Amino acid sequence: MLTLGIESSCDETAAAVVQDGGTVLSSVISSQIKLHCAYGGVIPELAAREHLKNISPVVDAALRQAGKGVGDMDGLAVTARPGLIPALLVGNAYAKGLAATAGIPLVGINHFEGHFYGAFIEHQELLADRGSYPILAAVISGGHTALVLLPADGRARIVGTTLDDAAGEALDKAAKILGLGYPGGPVIDRIAKNGDPKAYDFPRGLVGGGGRAVPPEHRFDFSFSGVKTALLYAVKDRSLNDQELADVVASYQAAVMGVLVTKAVDAARHFGARLVCLSGGVACNSYLRAEMAAACERNGLRLVLAPPKYCTDNAAMIGALGFHYLKRGWTDGLDMPVEARLPQTLGIFPFAIDAPDNK
Ligand code: KG4
Ligand code: ZN
Repeated sequence: MLTLGIESSCDETAAAVVQDGGTVLSSVISSQIKLHCAYGGVIPELAAREHLKNISPVVDAALRQAGKGVGDMDGLAVTARPGLIPALLVGNAYAKGLAATAGIPLVGINHFEGHFYGAFIEHQELLADRGSYPILAAVISGGHTALVLLPADGRARIVGTTLDDAAGEALDKAAKILGLGYPGGPVIDRIAKNGDPKAYDFPRGLVGGGGRAVPPEHRFDFSFSGVKTALLYAVKDRSLNDQELADVVASYQAAVMGVLVTKAVDAARHFGARLVCLSGGVACNSYLRAEMAAACERNGLRLVLAPPKYCTDNAAMIGALGFHYLKRGWTDGLDMPVEARLPQTLGIFPFAIDAPDNK
């Protein structure tokens, strides 16, 4: 079964052709990073205009690279939520037009759930194995920082989330403070390699210590506003040489990533997870990947890391997850709305209820 995935929720126009939810025949991404760089963040109206310019060539390229035509597709999956409304509207209008003219079914995908699936595109066998559940997923991107628990009944729930900034946002804002450009994650990852992560003792939000207890209801939640403010004061009125900058960046990165690792492992143990997975743009981070791997090993937890190409925004994760919905006949009409916010409750993950031992 072939699905065409389309993604336009933020600053990447992407399309992919995926076979049976796991074989990526093509994945084309047109990034607008250079355009938004000058503003230090994504401008929704500019993003929408760029999507409009790029969507048709990107979809054409994905079909061409896969050696397929739109008539070969068994269905179309498009990111419908959450995201920037003007940006989502472009991808959704295009997808609906294509699905209607080609006469193929359409399904709207939750981008956040797509990131989750990014860890499993190359490991579908794990999702089809009942022994993998419950899964504890850390979905860490520029828009989201959440811990998701997925039991075998497919009813995923968010057990922890950020109370303020997403982790990627905390990195992007730090880079802005330090004048390192946008997006901050990749440059912080690179500079931190030359620095000492213990040089500065930046605060770690909602982990307790120093006489402060974490309210039990926030045990698995995150807060990054404190560390950002601490950074602002640490560098205020200072001009840093290269080594000082590397030390600040490495310490900041360690504070942000340290909390992610501690809470993901704590949640995995608490909920008896059989598998931990890490995905979303920030999951590209080399320090986070290494720390998460070490912590999971220490705690006897099996870890699946999303490959970097499926961490940052892409349409392969959308097309691949879409396959599971389309296979079950779970489709959407042409009146499907787009939504800015992550819905309060996640959908039922079809691959979990389709796991063979679970029927
Ligand atoms: O998943 P994504 O492409 O878009 C959202 O859905 O938000 O994530 C983008 C985020 C940005 O904040 C970017 O700085 C961060 O991912 N990022 C990284 C790295 N590469 C991208 N953060 C840390 N280390 C990286 N290597
Ligand atoms: Zn994303």
